[in-house]
Amino acid sequence: MAAARLRGAMLALAAAGLASPAAAEGERDLGRIVYGAHCAACHGADGRGEGPMAEFLTVEMPDLTTIQRDNDGVFPFARVYRIIEGGAENEVHAASGMPAWGERLLTDTYILHGVRVEPGQREAFVRARILAVIDHIAGMQEQ
Ligand code: HEC
Repeated sequence: MAAARLRGAMLALAAAGLASPAAAEGERDLGRIVYGAHCAACHGADGRGEGPMAEFLTVEMPDLTTIQRDNDGVFPFARVYRIIEGGAENEVHAASGMPAWGERLLTDTYILHGVRVEPGQREAFVRARILAVIDHIAGMQEQ
């Protein structure tokens, strides 16, 4: 069953130190799990841009915790969605090291976090993950 597989996957992630203990206990913080698995390597666990991959990129890492402050105190939801879905090349950011997650998740991946995704469900699956990870980033914002 999908639910059992999802729980198994979360336990595996927790064992690998990628998910919070709360997620392993069933809180199911999807945004935290997706961020830990796909974003933290570059952006850092706290979003400040000091992930282990950052030093290998040719562009400077942005600080994800100041996105709201830098946008007059309003979290720019639609812009952040487009950046994550399309990768930074959709935006002004030229020569970015950021992959296009929407497309990548849609085309490359058949089994994500231990859950088999049927072709007809992939768009909804990716959308749910992008929304969850945006929620996680919104929760990191400096006040
Ligand atoms: C391979 C490294 C890498 C990974 C993995 C990565 N990013 Fe990025 N990200 C970048 C870089 C580099 C930039 C800055 C792009 C630029 O300025 O050209 C960026 C920019 C961003 C921005 C825009 C920040 C701003 O202030 O404009 C957001 C939001 C973002 N990333 C979210 C994510 C999320 C969510 C994930 C995971 C799904 C992710 N990134 C995965 C490297 C990465």
